[in-house]
Amino acid sequence: MSAHLIADGVAFSYERGQPVLNRASINIESSEFTGIVGPNGSGKSTLLRILGGLLAPASGTVTLDGEPMARIGHRMRAQRVAFLPQSVQPTFSLTVFETVCLGRHPHLGALGTLTPHDRDVAERCLDAADCTDLRRREFMTLSGGERQRVMLASILAQEPALLLLDEPTSSLDVHHQVEIFDLLRRLAEDGYGVCVVTHDLNLAAQFCGNVLLLSGGSPEPVAQGTPVDVFAETTLSEAYGSPISVSEHPIEHTPFISASPRSRQSR
Ligand SMILES: Nc1ncnc2c1ncn2[C@@H]1O[C@H](COP(=O)(O)OP(=O)(O)OP(=O)(O)O)[C@@H](O)[C@H]1O
Ligand SMILES: [Mg+2]
Repeated sequence: MSAHLIADGVAFSYERGQPVLNRASINIESSEFTGIVGPNGSGKSTLLRILGGLLAPASGTVTLDGEPMARIGHRMRAQRVAFLPQSVQPTFSLTVFETVCLGRHPHLGALGTLTPHDRDVAERCLDAADCTDLRRREFMTLSGGERQRVMLASILAQEPALLLLDEPTSSLDVHHQVEIFDLLRRLAEDGYGVCVVTHDLNLAAQFCGNVLLLSGGSPEPVAQGTPVDVFAETTLSEAYGSPISVSEHPIEHTPFISASPRSRQSR
């Protein structure tokens, strides 16, 4: 199932006169792995919520396969687009397997009963996110990184065409970070459209085909394109309001980004 989500010229404010986003445009489509990056508070989660239909833009349009997002029903949208929020607070006790099965919800019939196929999908997604060993644990007792992997398994179980993921690796160890980015890249190669918000510019440079860079100082995006085009020293330094160095990753030969503390920069 292919899909194409387009945000065109989007603007958004939480408070009158204080725009968080302005003239932001992004395409999320099947077989593409897109990153949204930028400093804290630059509007990444806001843009992802707009893309997922959780917030309506003040101006601009958001369409899924040509249809305005606001006109698509919740269940239909959930079958095509999965959204992983930046943080998840469990409010009731479920096992890991039950949590992953929640992802099947948009596909269940009126009685909400899981079929053997739903269970097979959940098992496969547990394995893909390296959570099979956790399947009988209570979700609430998991570490932050374990929870993050289980939530990823849960939205994979939704079997959407497009995945919108807000910092899916922020709590993961270095091994799981790279494994999850590699999994997301493979999903894009298999035809999923993947959009990830991340603070890890080096992982974005290594794995994403396109990136959108938001700014700390302006609601308008600073740059958009391939990581090689966007991750230039002047562009990143403008977005982050602080000098940022770019060299070449010694193994991957992708841009390798580093920042120094202000105290060192003034020496
Ligand atoms: N519900 C809200 N009400 C008012 N302001 C909000 C709300 N949510 C976010 N903001 C503000 O909007 C701006 C953008 O927030 P957003 O969460 O999109 O940033 P972000 O780029 O995802 O940041 P981070 O990297 O810290 O997650 C911030 O200044 C934030 O304080
Ligand atoms: Mg955020």
